[in-house]
Amino acid sequence: MSASSLLLSPLNIRGVTFPNRVVLSPLCMYSANCGVATDWQFAHLSTFARGGVGLVFAEATAVEPRGRITPRCLGIWTDEQAEALKPVTRFIKSMGSVPGLQIAHAGRKASASPPWDGGKPLPVGDTSWGDPAWSIVGPSAVPLADGWQTPHALSEAEIADLVTTFADSARRAVTAGFKALEIHGAHGYLIHSFLSPLSNQRNDAYGGDLQGRMRFALEVTEAVRAAWPPDLPLFFRLSAVDGKGWEIEESVTLSRELKARGVDVIDCSAGGITGAPAFRVKDDGTPAASGDRPLGFQVPYAEQIRREAEVKTMAVGRIVGAQQAEDILIAGRADLIAIGRELMYNPFWTLHAAETLEADEAQANWPEQYRWSIVRRADLNQQSRP
Ligand SMILES: Cc1cc2nc3c(=O)[nH]c(=O)nc-3n(C[C@H](O)[C@H](O)[C@H](O)COP(=O)(O)O)c2cc1C
Repeated sequence: MSASSLLLSPLNIRGVTFPNRVVLSPLCMYSANCGVATDWQFAHLSTFARGGVGLVFAEATAVEPRGRITPRCLGIWTDEQAEALKPVTRFIKSMGSVPGLQIAHAGRKASASPPWDGGKPLPVGDTSWGDPAWSIVGPSAVPLADGWQTPHALSEAEIADLVTTFADSARRAVTAGFKALEIHGAHGYLIHSFLSPLSNQRNDAYGGDLQGRMRFALEVTEAVRAAWPPDLPLFFRLSAVDGKGWEIEESVTLSRELKARGVDVIDCSAGGITGAPAFRVKDDGTPAASGDRPLGFQVPYAEQIRREAEVKTMAVGRIVGAQQAEDILIAGRADLIAIGRELMYNPFWTLHAAETLEADEAQANWPEQYRWSIVRRADLNQQSRP
């Protein structure tokens, strides 16, 4: 897209060129069948590629069956699951966009119902959502909240197996055709639950001080980086603050360590360790009420991590306007803009943003199947506004 807008201009990371800096934030769809993508994933993700999004991230995709949030979450622990994602990546590439995958393990937040059913913990064996609900795992035997299962505290041998499992998923992501990969280290899921002193009460090498609590995240990152091709970018999503003992200073330290291990972009989200909505830190450093989410509420985290850890960052969270996104980039507060709900609301957000920012006067960025008639529509609308 045109270089007159930073948002719409390309960005190179390793051997990949993103055609612009708009990213579809990973969005769970709870529509897979035994972890295998269905027509829904194709229809959903292809829409954003048609809409000109530079990097289309598929949803949190479990590295093992126990790592799904719900029985209907996507997985990549089998070759069949990787195969089912090939049409998705092929189509996204055909539109000039980059297909990305987020690999995840839900840890003590696993085995729940979809959000439209309240996101409730399911009793082990419950089959209301397909596969029977399962026993969950975590760093310590500390449940998320009342009514949730008490997780099995993973042994060191089981942790080592999971590190390998993450790497195996990264290899399958290559086979499936993805060109960017993100490790989900946020929102209270397994990796975040190791980072947090609230959920990690271990007294072995994987707990205790910050170094111990970061160990699992760093081992996963090293294993994934070794399995993921050196010419392809690796992202890490963290909860920059969680309001329960994990603060921005720890995120800066973690980001430096991740960068040293080959992470290219830190995706700066927040919250989730208690299951409550994301937190925001006020100017005085205290967490703001969870409902208090102004536009761009997490951008300060992307800005601080970018500056202090000297790493590329992706900003996310209530970025809704073209000029808002452009201003974040121009001010050097982030390198990429991830958008979730606004893109679901308007999958052609990027193409409209290009018009707003006057970066696409000839509608050159529309798919050719649409462009010729979109141009005519624009001409007609010029002549007589509807
Ligand atoms: C329906 C839905 C599903 C989501 N699924 C994921 C997910 O799979 N992985 C993840 O890291 N975040 C997930 N999120 C969080 C989004 O990626 C994003 O960070 C959040 O919605 C804030 O961005 P927004 O204000 O642009 O929507 C989800 C959010 C929504 C609304």
